Amino acid sequence: MSQAAIGIIGGSGLYKMDALKDVEEVAIDTPFGKPSDAIILGTIDGTRVAFLARHGRNHHLTPSELPFRANIYAMKSLGVQYLISASAVGSLKEEAKPLDMVVPDQFIDRTKNRVSTFFGDGIVAHIGFGDPVCHNLATVLADAVASLNLTDSTLHRGGTYVCMEGPAFSTKAESHLYRSWGATIIGMTNLPEAKLAREAEIAYATLALVTDYDCWHPDHDSVTVDLVIANLQRNAVNAQKVIQETVRRLTEHPPTSDAHSALKYAILTPLD
Ligand code: ADE
Repeated sequence: MSQAAIGIIGGSGLYKMDALKDVEEVAIDTPFGKPSDAIILGTIDGTRVAFLARHGRNHHLTPSELPFRANIYAMKSLGVQYLISASAVGSLKEEAKPLDMVVPDQFIDRTKNRVSTFFGDGIVAHIGFGDPVCHNLATVLADAVASLNLTDSTLHRGGTYVCMEGPAFSTKAESHLYRSWGATIIGMTNLPEAKLAREAEIAYATLALVTDYDCWHPDHDSVTVDLVIANLQRNAVNAQKVIQETVRRLTEHPPTSDAHSALKYAILTPLD
């Protein structure tokens, strides 16, 4: 099967990438079932890339239904070493405005219903997750955003992403609680992906595309799907430019990543 060192997972509103050329669809089966959709293998400016629409290209999977393990397993089996997740998020801070981009460096797990490990069933491992995002990959991603000088979108380097279960959006009390914790953005998908990617020794970073102010802001309407999609469609053009530039930079200078050896001291069960 063809290989690709760079993987991209596109969230709500980013179901395909126009810059991908010479595309080939691969339907992969994994020990954890089928991924969200076929993976699109192709090239961006000559570099091989694997693209997956997280919710399926027709958006038929809720966040709780996502086959996270199959998605990450499929990316690993294609040889992916760097995984970029483009994701719609709500903002929990005034300064992170709709259409802005955030490259978070922390997560808070508020999911309730997800299997976010490959381990168990006789093999015990505890990966380090103090720094859940690959710092070097996140830096390449954020530098790519900055280099584009986007006029309609401000970049925020770092910040905490709250990952909620969904599919309903938060209550106002929850939204205010997350603000009191100092969190920056809220979404429904990235934490299980980041954990599984770390267990699979894949470097992971998030390009968070702000679509709304969730429901805490006194001067903005509470989040609706219409608002998310309208703003994400506006952001999708910028997101694709960012991904293209990030792929170019990763190809020129592939960064080192601690994630690539995450299992070195993590497995407790003797394997021989
Ligand atoms: N995705 C986009 N906006 C969101 C919000 N306000 N809460 C959770 N996920 C989101």
